[in-house]
Amino acid sequence: MATKRSSSRRQFLKTTAAASVGAATLGSAPRVVGARSHGLPQQADGPLVISSRNGMNAVERAMEVIKSGADALDAVVAGVNLVEEDPNDTSVGYGGLPNADGVVQLDAAVIHGPTGRAGSVACIEGIKYPSKVAKLVLERTDHVNLVGKGAQEFAIMHGFPVENLLTERARLAWVRWRENLSNRDEYLPPHEADDPSIGADYEPQHRTWGTIHCSAIDLAGNISSVTTTSGLAFKIPGRVGDSPIIGAGLYCDNEVGAAGSTGRGEANLENCASFLIVERMRAGDSPEQACLYACERIADHTRKAYLLNERGEPDFNVQFYALNKAGEVGGAQIRGENGQFAACNSEGSFLVDLAYLYK
Ligand code: GLY
Repeated sequence: MATKRSSSRRQFLKTTAAASVGAATLGSAPRVVGARSHGLPQQADGPLVISSRNGMNAVERAMEVIKSGADALDAVVAGVNLVEEDPNDTSVGYGGLPNADGVVQLDAAVIHGPTGRAGSVACIEGIKYPSKVAKLVLERTDHVNLVGKGAQEFAIMHGFPVENLLTERARLAWVRWRENLSNRDEYLPPHEADDPSIGADYEPQHRTWGTIHCSAIDLAGNISSVTTTSGLAFKIPGRVGDSPIIGAGLYCDNEVGAAGSTGRGEANLENCASFLIVERMRAGDSPEQACLYACERIADHTRKAYLLNERGEPDFNVQFYALNKAGEVGGAQIRGENGQFAACNSEGSFLVDLAYLYK
């Protein structure tokens, strides 16, 4: 049965990839399928930034920083800081949706391509800019990952204020979630006394994951990456997603390229997909082909029945974004034909279509 699923997925993958190539402009220029949205010229050389769809401001900010002569790592962190401090993005930083206890716990990681160093924090509370703390772990420790209280104390040591990151909007969303979580606990949403449909069953497509990933090539041709998130909404306290895990939520090799992800982190953690994407690009895949390959790997490895739909397909989404040393960009997701990601070259920002495995 697994073989059958797998072969029909491969067939679909072929069709999808072919359609996507047809829509893209080929050649040495970046494959900026969505560039038409902004009418921008395509460029093969020069600086480049990519990000998940929620990072249009982030890629523009990162490009400004790169144009001032800064290193790609400083640029991508400056870019995602805009999203970390934005209360309206409920998947990252301040205003991120909290865990099951109503506490905002954040994950972030960075990789510096030229030196091959990495830093990350997981389950950090009360610190608005986890990506900055991840960068400090890279710069000011001999470690790669700090978690929880230790990560917060390290941030405090470096002068970060501890702040309340739970906005009123996120708190109300948490209350709504708690009250609708189960028909078998004591919490009830607002309801009529005779309403039989209170509560909700577990349905993966109704779970909320968000995140921002950002990678860039600077004026010197060096590559760096960051991923930062508040993680799965209403997660079990202490849950660590893929974002702060080097090789899962992001990976960068200065000689090859970079990749990062958003979406269901557990699926990515079980497949080390960002590392896989960079290795596929090293072996000759385009960024888009490599991202599709990672989607297929996840689909092939998804066996839990509650994560599969009636056709045996993963009933959740993961998105991947990648760039290579040659300045090509590409991305893919498991589900949905309308996904896009943000990118910016020296001419300006634009959207790029994500390839996909399943409509
Ligand atoms: N990809 C974000 C998370 O699962 O936490």
